[in-house]
Amino acid sequence: MSAARARVRRRISVDLGERSYQVSLGPGILPSLGRAVVRATGASHAVILTVPGVGRRYAAATGRSLREAGMKVHRLQVPDGDATKNLDQIAELYGELVRFGADRKSVLVALGGGMVGDLTGFLAATYLRGISFVQVPTTLLAMVDSSIGGKVGVNLPQGKNLVGAFHQPRAVWADTELLRSLPRRERSAGFAEVIKAAAIWDEKLFARLEREAQALMDLEPGPLISVIARACEIKAEVVRRDERESGLRMLLNFGHTVGHAVETLSGYASILHGEAVAMGMVYAARRSESLGLCPVGSAERLEALCERFELPTEVPDFDRRAYLDVLRVDKKIQSSRIQYIVLRGIGSAEARPLRAGEIMPGKRG
Ligand SMILES: NC(=O)c1ccc[n+]([C@@H]2O[C@H](COP(=O)([O-])OP(=O)(O)OC[C@H]3O[C@@H](n4cnc5c(N)ncnc54)[C@H](O)[C@@H]3O)[C@@H](O)[C@H]2O)c1
Ligand SMILES: [Zn+2]
Repeated sequence: MSAARARVRRRISVDLGERSYQVSLGPGILPSLGRAVVRATGASHAVILTVPGVGRRYAAATGRSLREAGMKVHRLQVPDGDATKNLDQIAELYGELVRFGADRKSVLVALGGGMVGDLTGFLAATYLRGISFVQVPTTLLAMVDSSIGGKVGVNLPQGKNLVGAFHQPRAVWADTELLRSLPRRERSAGFAEVIKAAAIWDEKLFARLEREAQALMDLEPGPLISVIARACEIKAEVVRRDERESGLRMLLNFGHTVGHAVETLSGYASILHGEAVAMGMVYAARRSESLGLCPVGSAERLEALCERFELPTEVPDFDRRAYLDVLRVDKKIQSSRIQYIVLRGIGSAEARPLRAGEIMPGKRG
């Protein structure tokens, strides 16, 4: 590895007692994945799970690295898109794992974005009552958010992520060079979760995003790696303090309540998760302002930042009753109230128990 590369290689620890693991981050680290997997799991059999677009580009290098570390390697491919994150797909994949002779000592390797990570993680959490898995995130969103923290699961027709588990990966291995092939729209969607982390937790990061938006959208390695690392640290810190989402971790749902409703109502098709989150965040910030919970101007600042990252900021005009119905089956419902994340200012957020109708008041409400 060259000196320049070594300098930008970063490690972030996710401290969870015996479930602790490291996030390794930097350009060109994919070829050393195999050794890291063996170190973290001791496994001698790996099953890579990916989607065609990612597999075509990176599965060969991934497989080579695992084999060079002495592992037997199988590969599974599922169709692209969030519609694949479902129980039928899981049932099919169990069958494949049995066919490969995967046992308690095998490791699953999630090679892809958040969809692949959530699906693989859920498979690993449940197959043989739980086997180990490693995250190799290939989207920005997966690097900064979904690969860390152990929330895994699938969608139901009634809503996003309604079935799942907490199952921590044994390692997260993020090669930032892989982001070069990511479509620009997916890049933006990933930055939505970075903006989220900044908005709820770190005003300095928020200001940095405002200053460096252009360089970040251009994937300039210096700013990019340091911003990804900071977002990973925030996620790791929140998860360390509240692994099972009994309180603090809920803050990471900022923008997600209405965002999930947008995804559900649009059938997961036309809107990316990060785009839905951007809409949901701006919506929540405006709502926070009108409830008198955060300084006037916060929503505008958030909206401007989302726009710099080419993200949409207005929720689609679906029928209000449709929104309310979806909000009411959202999994964060406690009795008749939803733990809605409101902004208290840039860099600070809290959960408020609100009724669906308070989150989305009618024209006169
Ligand atoms: N578990 C969590 O804590 C958590 C957090 C946030 C989001 N999520 C979930 O993550 C999912 C969204 O993740 P996502 O945005 O990564 O979507 P995704 O996994 O669907 O990937 C987005 C697209 O990018 C393509 N792609 C991936 N890597 C690529 C690369 N390097 N080059 C070119 N194309 C590439 C994929 O094929 C896909 O078309 C949703 O299912 C969401 O619910 C989970
Ligand atoms: Zn998200």
